[in-house]
Amino acid sequence: MADTPKFRISRVDDARGRPVRDLRISVTDRCNFRCPYCMPAEVFGEHYTFLPREEILTFEEIARLARVFVSLGVRKVRITGGEPLLRTDLVGLVTRLRAIDGIDDLTLTTNGLLLARHAEALARAGLDRVTVSLDSVDPDVFRALSGRNVELADVLAGVDAAAAAGLTPIKLNCVVQRGVNVDGIEALCERFRGTGHIVRFIEFMDVGTLNGWDLSKVVPAREILDLVNARFPIRPIEPGYRGEVARRYAYEDGGGEIGVIASVTAPFCGDCTRARLSTRGDLVTCLFANQDLNLRAALRAGEDDDALANLIARRWRGRDDRYSEERNARTPDVPAPRIEMFRIGG
Ligand code: GTP
Ligand code: 5AD
Ligand code: SF4
Ligand code: SF4
Repeated sequence: MADTPKFRISRVDDARGRPVRDLRISVTDRCNFRCPYCMPAEVFGEHYTFLPREEILTFEEIARLARVFVSLGVRKVRITGGEPLLRTDLVGLVTRLRAIDGIDDLTLTTNGLLLARHAEALARAGLDRVTVSLDSVDPDVFRALSGRNVELADVLAGVDAAAAAGLTPIKLNCVVQRGVNVDGIEALCERFRGTGHIVRFIEFMDVGTLNGWDLSKVVPAREILDLVNARFPIRPIEPGYRGEVARRYAYEDGGGEIGVIASVTAPFCGDCTRARLSTRGDLVTCLFANQDLNLRAALRAGEDDDALANLIARRWRGRDDRYSEERNARTPDVPAPRIEMFRIGG
């Protein structure tokens, strides 16, 4: 039976008039990859200490918070990590989230390595679709970029299994880095044209503090589009929904579509309706935030749902974040403390 939340507050806008529509939930800080731009192997070695179990939200706690967020206006929920498929019984969380009335889109972002073995059960539990991070379809480049001895074929098998299970449309996220995988853009297009899957090229961002980002490593979306267009002519198409982060382009020959996410050269903070819940239960209101609100403490102190809703609403109303829009005006030599990407799932 549908689990309908009943609360007094029904919608909250932040200080810039943006409602809270999307919730991205990180379910683990662990990952089976060591992508150099996210969890470099030198830092996340054998002896790195991940969060102890008692600090990680349980599925009951996540589902309860999700219900409160839905009461405040959230309609889209994305499960992320680290690598979410490393969390035991993730299907159990999907089942709990699916039971919440009001979630129109329930999705998962994964690196795909374990997807083949879980796709069918995730679909049966009610997951709508998946997004797979895939920076290259060259097996050697892929292995180097994943930082582990993993096989591209396993990820591609995961994509096929997700398609067979109906977790569609499948999106493939490729973070483009100058001097690293620009050469592979055409091959990615070629591999997925005509499959119904949507490749999205993402400008490399300065998230976290570990990835050695600088502007020279960013390949502007315009350049990516020119590259694709030279080989497979494309034309812009309408956004799928308000506030969509990707700009969409269709192949002229009917081969499907691609997207670009230009968060560096064309920031989209004005429409940003995303809240993030970290692995240990902090509410993070911007990908680049350096502070958060500890919801786990409130939950475990026995606060009721109304109190939690009020706490979240108060924080959201005070939200003024627009980091990507401000980035270009910042002094590059003053690095701000920031939450790492793998704790909030991008
Ligand atoms: P769809 O619902 O499928 O359109 O997915 P999405 O684009 O909302 O989510 P996804 O996880 O696939 O996001 C793709 C990438 O866009 C992320 O990995 C980030 O790199 C970037 N991104 C997503 N949300 C934000 C955001 O709020 N701010 C910034 N700066 N980048 C974001
Ligand atoms: N810039 C852009 N995207 C990134 N991701 C991870 N780090 C970065 C970065 N520095 C992407 C991953 C994944 C998504 C959750 O975030 O590739 O698709
Ligand atoms: Fe893992 Fe994704 Fe980070 Fe790569 S980008 S290390 S797959 S969480
Ligand atoms: Fe939203 Fe912050 Fe990204 Fe801007 S930089 S789109 S405010 S998460």
